[in-house]
Amino acid sequence: MRSRAVCPGSFDPVTLGHVDIISRAAQQFDEVTVLVTHNPNKAGLFSVQERMDLIRDATCHIAGVRVDSWAGLLVDYTTEHGISALVKGLRSGIDYEYELPMAQMNRRLTGVDTFFLLTDPKYGYISSTLCKEVAKYGGDVTGLLPDAVVRALKTKF
Ligand code: PNS
Repeated sequence: MRSRAVCPGSFDPVTLGHVDIISRAAQQFDEVTVLVTHNPNKAGLFSVQERMDLIRDATCHIAGVRVDSWAGLLVDYTTEHGISALVKGLRSGIDYEYELPMAQMNRRLTGVDTFFLLTDPKYGYISSTLCKEVAKYGGDVTGLLPDAVVRALKTKF
């Protein structure tokens, strides 16, 4: 049986840290779905379609990766698709504190398990939020984000 996992997130936008986690998840699972979860009440910088296109562009070299989006509970997506594993990256203890209750809640809801990969230290300080802020004020985010995302941010600002 093929092993399948979901890498969920807002990916607004995808960073090289995300791409590293997706790539490492794809070494452990036959199929990895990068799932852009969105809240219709919370507008991001990039539309969900733009985020998905940027993820596709940044992960097209990784076998077994697909990209999808979802507006409801994450566990409803995994149940609907028969997927029993989530994969997330952990940069620090702050991420751990944030992720722990979600992982426990998701497991309580449907039994889905969350697997954590420790972020490569070279990406440890990168976040979508910080990159957007730096780019907004004209700072250089080259090497922190996929090239297409760097170009997309320049267009946005
Ligand atoms: O990129 P983020 O902000 O770390 O992603 C968090 C995300 C989107 C995975 C989380 O907010 C989520 O799972 N949202 C979907 C709605 C849901 O299932 N909420 C209950 C989580 S226990």
